Amino acid sequence: MEKLWGGRFKKNINKEMEKFISSLSFDKKLVKYDLLGSIAHAQMLGKCNIITKEEKDKIVEGLRQILKEAQESKLEIAAGEAEDIHSWVENKLKEKIGTVAGKLHIARSRNDQIALDERMYLKEEVLMIQDLLKDLQKSFLSSAQKHLGIIMPGYTHLQHAQPLLFSHHLMAYFYMFERDKGRMQDLYKRIDVLPLGSAALAGTSFPIDRKYVASQLGFKQISENSLDAVSDRDFILEFLSASAILMMHLSRLGEELVLWSSQEFNFIELDDSFCTGSSIMPQKKNPDAAELIRGKTGRVYGNLINLLTMMKALPLAYNHDMQEDKEPLFDTVSTLETSLFLMSKMVETMQINKEKMEEGSRGDFSTATELADYLVKKGLTFREAHKLVGSIVIYCIENKKILENLTLSELESFNKSFDNKTLDILKPQSVVETKDSHGGTSLKRVRESIQKAEKILKKE
Ligand code: ARG
Repeated sequence: MEKLWGGRFKKNINKEMEKFISSLSFDKKLVKYDLLGSIAHAQMLGKCNIITKEEKDKIVEGLRQILKEAQESKLEIAAGEAEDIHSWVENKLKEKIGTVAGKLHIARSRNDQIALDERMYLKEEVLMIQDLLKDLQKSFLSSAQKHLGIIMPGYTHLQHAQPLLFSHHLMAYFYMFERDKGRMQDLYKRIDVLPLGSAALAGTSFPIDRKYVASQLGFKQISENSLDAVSDRDFILEFLSASAILMMHLSRLGEELVLWSSQEFNFIELDDSFCTGSSIMPQKKNPDAAELIRGKTGRVYGNLINLLTMMKALPLAYNHDMQEDKEPLFDTVSTLETSLFLMSKMVETMQINKEKMEEGSRGDFSTATELADYLVKKGLTFREAHKLVGSIVIYCIENKKILENLTLSELESFNKSFDNKTLDILKPQSVVETKDSHGGTSLKRVRESIQKAEKILKKE
């Protein structure tokens, strides 16, 4: 295969070495961006009279043909055909238009070219991920609207804590994923910077027009320092960091779906289309998609650590180590996109077991805080009230009773300030209603948070 750098060498490259340094098997994913970037570069070279108009037209036409063939899947990019996608494109162009293809690389290096390709690729993928996040939020929002009013046990330490509206729990995920979307929107700004024109590391002596290239390719800014621009992979690291957090969120959700669909909880039933069975136990229905999303979180964390470690001791500017940035990046993008898609569908199609949720929040002492708060309103300090209610709970456990079923005289034996109204506040429904602080779980507050969420989705 023809090398872009053969001139200085007397001997051929070792065959194992040739395979070892090649990135074509994975950077072929960037072919579209490499071609679009090259078209803009050639147009700029023509506009600035660095090449003639005829040369520019030939190069641009050749590149457009390759792009068309690539998009119609008429081109196979086989490993071994070239060292990397940049060499592959230049070789193809030479096959099509002859030696004038050699003028395309004026005032450019593969160092600024790869940084450009990756930025173009990631800009598209980050927008796609934002859309997928939005779909997931829509699934939570419509489920929260549909199931408004259902009460479930809320947990801390995975022990019953206080009753909640199920919709409140769903909306917690809506706002969690809103932060992920915010991180993606924010890091997008730092991807949106054109590195092309930095050349190998120092800039170029040709009279190029970088702003023109930026406007052709839809970049908001151009980079300020050529050395930094070709050394920088922060935009990928930021993406991998935000992705690691996002994947941790999906994993927590996956864990809740696994728990909730177990026989012990039985709060939800996942749709058949996202579960599989067992080859030996005919009764089994396993929450595979939720489990695998939880499981794949490891590789997304790994991709971040991989790249951080690869970058940590590199002197400026480009080093071949940096070729290793692509596989972790591509892997995280595809893992995230599939996980987000499957999660939205799973949340959208799951069946809710209202009876089980409500049954779970009765007789579980989760109204005990309410009872303590009640005594505080009657003049006790919170510590006194806490201690007293603790002894009521022990009384119930020892006598196999539940708080809601205590009689007034039983309550009065603990404290005289209990009255008829006490029995009312011990119902999960009333407890939920009292949590009326901003962001709380009362029906009114959850309605508010749903309305706010609708506005958020409409605004974007
Ligand atoms: N294949 C290389 C990469 O992916 C492209 C840049 C190569 N630059 C160089 N000077 N060898 O990083």
